[in-house]
Amino acid sequence: MKLAILGPPGAGKGTQASRLSDEFSIPRIATGDMLRMEVNSGTDLGHQAQQYMQKGVLVPDDIIIEMIRKRLSQGDVRDGFILDGFPRSVVQAEALEGMGGIDGVVYLDVSEEEVVQRFLGRRACSQCQAVYHLRTSPPRVRGMCDRCGASIRHRADDREEVVRQRFRTYREKTEPLVRRYGARSLLMEVDGSGTIQEVYDSIKTALASRGFT
Ligand code: AP5
Repeated sequence: MKLAILGPPGAGKGTQASRLSDEFSIPRIATGDMLRMEVNSGTDLGHQAQQYMQKGVLVPDDIIIEMIRKRLSQGDVRDGFILDGFPRSVVQAEALEGMGGIDGVVYLDVSEEEVVQRFLGRRACSQCQAVYHLRTSPPRVRGMCDRCGASIRHRADDREEVVRQRFRTYREKTEPLVRRYGARSLLMEVDGSGTIQEVYDSIKTALASRGFT
C-alpha cells in the first residue's frame, strides 16, 4: 500500500497518517516533520529550509525530491508507506512517478474556517513531532508528549500571517494535484470536517472500497 495524504494546512494529514501508519504497520513519511528535525538539529539543510518554512512557502522542489528519494530507498518501505505532505507541487508529483508512483491518494477536504480553529489549539512535540490539540486531542499530562515525554509547544509557522501564506501556497501549488490524481482515478476524497475518529472511519471506508485492507 503506497499512499499519499493530501489536503490544506491543518486538514489533519499528520493526525490521520499517524493512525494509518500504526494500524497498517507501514512508515509515515512526513516531509514537514523531516524538515523540522533538520531545523532542530541545525544542519545546512535545516538552515536552508527554515527560510522558506517561516514564510509559509514551499522549500525548493530539488531539496525535497532528493530527501524523498533517499527516504524511499530505505528497506522499511518495502511493504508500503504513507506520504504526508508530499507531493506538494506538479514537479514533485512527476518526480514521484519516476520513483515508482503511488497506489492511491487520500484527499482531506476541510474548509479554511474549520482549520483556522484547529491551528489555535494545535501543539506539537518539540522532539518527536507528535501532534496534539488542546481541546480535541490533548496529551495525557499537560504540556508533555505522550510518546516521548518532551515538552509540547506551538509550531513556529502557526502564526496567523504565516498560516494565511501557507493557504495561498496550498491553493496555488498543491491544489492542482487534486485534479491530477482525480484524472488518474487515484483520488479518494474524504470529508475532513468531522471528529478525528469520524474522519478516520471515512478514510478506512474509502480505502476498503479500493481494496486496501
Ligand atoms: P507541514 O508540516 O506538512 O504543514 P502543513 O501541510 O501546512 O500541514 P500541517 O502539519 O500544518 O497540518 P496537518 O494537515 O498535518 O494537520 P494536523 O494533523 O497537524 O509543512 C510545513 C512546511 O514545511 C510547509 O509550509 C513548507 O514550507 C515545508 N514543506 C513540507 N513539505 C514540503 C514539500 N513537499 N515541498 C516543499 N515544502 C514542504 O492537525 C491540525 C490540528 O488539528 C492538530 O492540533 C490536530 O490535533 C487537530 N485535528 C486534526 N484532525 C482534527 C479533527 N478531525 N477535528 C478536530 N481537530 C483535529
